Amino acid sequence: MARKLLLTHIDVPGIQSFEVYRQKGGYRAVEKALKTMSPDDVVEEVKKSGLRGRGGAGFPTGMKWSFLAKPEGVPRYLVCNGDESEPGTFKDRFLMTHIPHALVEGMIVSSYALGANTSYIYIRGEMMPQIRIVEKAIAEAKAAGFLGKNILGSGYDLEIHVQPGGGAYICGEETALLESLEGKRGNPRIKPPFPAVSGLYGCPTVVNNVESIAATVPIVNDGGEEYAKIGIERSTGTKLISASGNLVRPGVYEIEMGLPMEEFIYSDEYCGGIANGKRLKAVVAGGSSVPILPTNLALKTAKGESRLMTYESLADGGFVTGTAMGSGGFVAFDEDQCIVRNTLNFTRFYHHESCGQCSPCREGTGWMEKVLHKIEYGQASLSDVDLLWDIQQKIDGHTICPLGDASAWPVASAIRHFRDEFEWHILHPEEAQTRNFGLAHYADPLVTT
Ligand SMILES: Cc1cc2nc3c(=O)[nH]c(=O)nc-3n(C[C@H](O)[C@H](O)[C@H](O)COP(=O)(O)O)c2cc1C
Ligand code: SF4
Repeated sequence: MARKLLLTHIDVPGIQSFEVYRQKGGYRAVEKALKTMSPDDVVEEVKKSGLRGRGGAGFPTGMKWSFLAKPEGVPRYLVCNGDESEPGTFKDRFLMTHIPHALVEGMIVSSYALGANTSYIYIRGEMMPQIRIVEKAIAEAKAAGFLGKNILGSGYDLEIHVQPGGGAYICGEETALLESLEGKRGNPRIKPPFPAVSGLYGCPTVVNNVESIAATVPIVNDGGEEYAKIGIERSTGTKLISASGNLVRPGVYEIEMGLPMEEFIYSDEYCGGIANGKRLKAVVAGGSSVPILPTNLALKTAKGESRLMTYESLADGGFVTGTAMGSGGFVAFDEDQCIVRNTLNFTRFYHHESCGQCSPCREGTGWMEKVLHKIEYGQASLSDVDLLWDIQQKIDGHTICPLGDASAWPVASAIRHFRDEFEWHILHPEEAQTRNFGLAHYADPLVTT
């Protein structure tokens, strides 16, 4: 069995409550940090752990923390990003629902490390049950003396507030989130300045993902070096993966970094294979924003090596034959799924969610949706595939925030790996409505359950 650090006690009845969480060793990290470590010691352990941000970009957490400006007399903030609106991603919701105290405990040790006395957890507005659960956990921790003034007699004060999100995917982008938290429309800011220098209310701020913050608990408990022993290369520790699509056992899994993707999909410890005895056609490994891979490239890199669930292995081959870890939203597509329809579906989402500040994203996502709609509904010509390629190229890298890039990558990768399926749709408009393009052309090797 793989080691678990975040979901160790997931099956313990009542683990949602303070009492049971505490009985299972909860809040030891707070005691250890506040009684025996300085804030810099905590930052040092997080650096040693090699933890990389679990929100999508994979930036080293300890390094991000060390960039935080510390001007005299100015408050510093920790803001937890629990907006989680990326299609295919539902790991943070799972953690907040089932082990909310892991997040609250992580918030306390992380806020202590950063010298923040007021911290925020920004949770997607539609997730009302999770908002209530986390609020209750904060109240319980406060009643037990782990929040408020002079925590455990250490002289350290901390209050944590929960803020329901603004109801848009873009509010998960860290600077849009800060705007939204300040009560404004969630539009991304132009960077620099980065939040570490000028974030919430113009003060130095760290924005971290729910899972990144929860991971600081085992790092403080066991030490950064122990954490770094799990995984390979610069992908250390464990990772929550939310698995969905045509899988026998979809769900949220905690994996050790370095697990082969083939094992993740087919072993009974994880997803148990492709549902209904079908064959695997394609994989989106890290949420709707990362490039889609056909089966052969999902299971093996272009060099023929086993594709591992690490930042490095997933990115092997760049965006030509590789993909990215992203937010850990893993979606499997079986042989019956239509890549054109799926690409249209993703693109419609990005068009709807574009905040409209930059023309390439505001206009380009809409144009891509229109062209994809024409292809899907039998009104396109072959040159429309080139037009689609051209539009995504003009968005990628030309916008204020990464939502523009995120809208371009699924389109680029779908055309790159499944161009014949787009062309087949155009050449067989009526058939395309009722039957999927055949598998044989690109699914090599075909993998069956
Ligand atoms: C459109 C968009 C949506 C995002 N949504 C989220 C989100 O829901 N949760 C999250 O942690 N990061 C999200 N991010 C990434 C954040 O901007 C930021 O990188 C992250 O919260 C940093 O935390 P980490 O270093 O712990 O990963 C999003 C980015 C973009 C561009
Ligand atoms: S890339 Fe899109 S979502 Fe991001 S700032 Fe520009 S218009 Fe808004």
